[in-house]
Amino acid sequence: MENPKLTLFIIFYFTVLNTAKAADPDKEPFVGVNIGTDVSNLLSPTDLVSFLQVQKITHIRLYDADPDLLKALAKTKIRVIVSVPNNQLLAIGSSNTTAASWIGKNVIAYYPETLITAIAVGDEVLTTVPSSAPILLPAIESLYSALVAANLHTQIKISTPHAASIILDPFPPSQAFFNQSLSSVMLPLLQFLSKTGAPLMMNLYPYYVFMQNKGVVPLDNSLFKPLTPSKEMVDPNTLLHYTNVLDAMIDAAYFSMKNLNITDVMVLVTESGWPSKGDSKEPYATIDNADTYNSNLIKHILDRSGTPFHPEVTSNVYIYELFNEDLRSPPISEANWGLFHANTTPVYLLHVSGSGTFLANDTTNQTYCIAMDGVDTKTLQAALDWACGPGRANCSDIQPGEPCYQPNNVKSHASYAFDSYYHEQGKTSGSCDFKGVAMITTTDPSHGSCIFPGSKKVSNKTKAVVNSTQISGAADRLRFISLRGNQISANAVAFSILLFIPFMTPWWGVQ
Ligand SMILES: *[C@@H]1O[C@H](CO)[C@@H](O)[C@H](O)[C@H]1NC(C)=O
Ligand SMILES: *[C@@H]1O[C@H](CO)[C@@H](O)[C@H](O)[C@H]1NC(C)=O
Ligand SMILES: *[C@@H]1O[C@H](CO)[C@@H](O)[C@H](O)[C@H]1NC(C)=O
Ligand SMILES: *[C@@H]1O[C@H](CO)[C@@H](O)[C@H](O)[C@H]1NC(C)=O
Ligand SMILES: *[C@@H]1O[C@H](CO)[C@@H](O)[C@H](O)[C@H]1NC(C)=O
Ligand SMILES: *[C@@H]1O[C@H](CO)[C@@H](O)[C@H](O)[C@H]1NC(C)=O
Ligand SMILES: *[C@@H]1O[C@H](CO)[C@@H](O)[C@H](O)[C@H]1NC(C)=O
Ligand SMILES: *[C@@H]1O[C@H](CO)[C@@H](O)[C@H](O)[C@H]1NC(C)=O
Repeated sequence: MENPKLTLFIIFYFTVLNTAKAADPDKEPFVGVNIGTDVSNLLSPTDLVSFLQVQKITHIRLYDADPDLLKALAKTKIRVIVSVPNNQLLAIGSSNTTAASWIGKNVIAYYPETLITAIAVGDEVLTTVPSSAPILLPAIESLYSALVAANLHTQIKISTPHAASIILDPFPPSQAFFNQSLSSVMLPLLQFLSKTGAPLMMNLYPYYVFMQNKGVVPLDNSLFKPLTPSKEMVDPNTLLHYTNVLDAMIDAAYFSMKNLNITDVMVLVTESGWPSKGDSKEPYATIDNADTYNSNLIKHILDRSGTPFHPEVTSNVYIYELFNEDLRSPPISEANWGLFHANTTPVYLLHVSGSGTFLANDTTNQTYCIAMDGVDTKTLQAALDWACGPGRANCSDIQPGEPCYQPNNVKSHASYAFDSYYHEQGKTSGSCDFKGVAMITTTDPSHGSCIFPGSKKVSNKTKAVVNSTQISGAADRLRFISLRGNQISANAVAFSILLFIPFMTPWWGVQ
């Protein structure tokens, strides 16, 4: 069905967003981090800032406006979202004077030496402290007035992060809408965001979507893994294909806004992440899944992939979170969302080659995949045979007479083959497993004239640099998954309706 009105509407929508994009100077998509502080040995503000700089982290969100940290961030170019904690909303929302003094004390006192870019007013207020809902917009408006008075309202945006649960029927995205019970707050809030050019802040967790819809939403879609077309989620109304849950959640927010005629507000993902450890009820909170999710998330954003509904607009994302918050109460996952332990050692090594220098402890260049110690020869031999056979690892150097033939034993040959496979797969998470007999190491296993794939010594011989768009064809990955015995249901398709109707006019019409 053609709908000319809708078509014009969409064109208008794209125009507005594109104009906004062109007008904004630094429009490179970025990935930032949330810094929660329920940590027993949090770094001192100066050490924390040095750590952020070492890791090339350029955008952070704080859950308060800690004066020492804001001071330490001065002259660093690190961009900061400061927050008004929920328990201060009432005071700020009921007094313009309090709001003005909050801005004076927490923003003006540091700006512009400290690059405060936004103020997050409360956190998930509508869902966690609904009694404060009536005060939310007054608080935002009072703070905005104070920013206007200081002439900082164009540089510093004001918004409020929401839980994903304010959006009902999020899948398929085109049917999503904001919970109508919240309309009295949402509509004027969105109008405020539209008027002031501020983003809609959303905390979006494919992890919870997956956990609450097991068997419906496949793990692969939640983790941004490469999918065969049959595993993509198709929105039956728009025929847009979704390869991952986060994009669907972002588009659900866009469609929800569209339902309220708000078309020029961007979505900013203030939180997203995956826990690396959980209790017995959280079996998917694993290092491997957390690594896969966050690595793929970073690549997805920095590749400027946009969403199916808005391919031209890539939402910025703040990863939840920088440090494991060991002081958080159970479930265990709550204390394990961090990329790093409090002492700055990484919880896992991200796989984000091609993302520039962001998160310098990405040791992608220096990771290798080798056989584990203490594995029986038969199992190792089977994995070696698979790697050099169907896995198409380059095993020429472990043939007799070649540099890696010696020492001539299964373990050392398997290590070479695993490493070859791992690098050919672009070091994607999951490509160093081999039914659990392989492990990642940062120690270069090369010896003598035997140079392992990925070794710095290889760069001498013009070896192709991994191009992230060419990483791991879906067919290889499927083969690999079946080797791991990791059965992932192929028939579970989130939107359940798969429509492959060639040449059907898309719902938005052609002209
Ligand atoms: C705060 O100021 C605005 C105008 O700037 C005004 O409309 C509003 O009533 C004031 N609120 C309070 C609580 O004084
Ligand atoms: C919609 O919001 C209201 C008010 O906060 C809440 O009571 C209700 O449970 C929400 N509805 C759904 C389906 O979540
Ligand atoms: C959105 O706009 C349409 C067409 O102008 C109108 O019919 C509808 O009532 C509006 N909806 C809202 C929530 O303002
Ligand atoms: C992380 O990176 C820093 C700076 O490059 C380095 O000093 C530190 O050893 C790295 N830590 C790990 C565990 O690789
Ligand atoms: C990773 O490789 C790229 C390209 O070869 C290089 O520019 C960069 O310095 C390397 N990073 C590390 C940490 O070795
Ligand atoms: C396999 O590895 C050898 C030695 O490193 C290299 O000369 C050869 O070009 C590689 N073959 C392929 C198909 O990449
Ligand atoms: C590069 O290869 C040549 C010849 O194989 C060798 O002499 C040289 O040391 C190598 N350079 C590096 C940096 O490994
Ligand atoms: C990766 O490969 C694709 C297709 O071959 C190409 O369009 C793209 O420019 C490449 N990207 C980089 C960073 O080399």
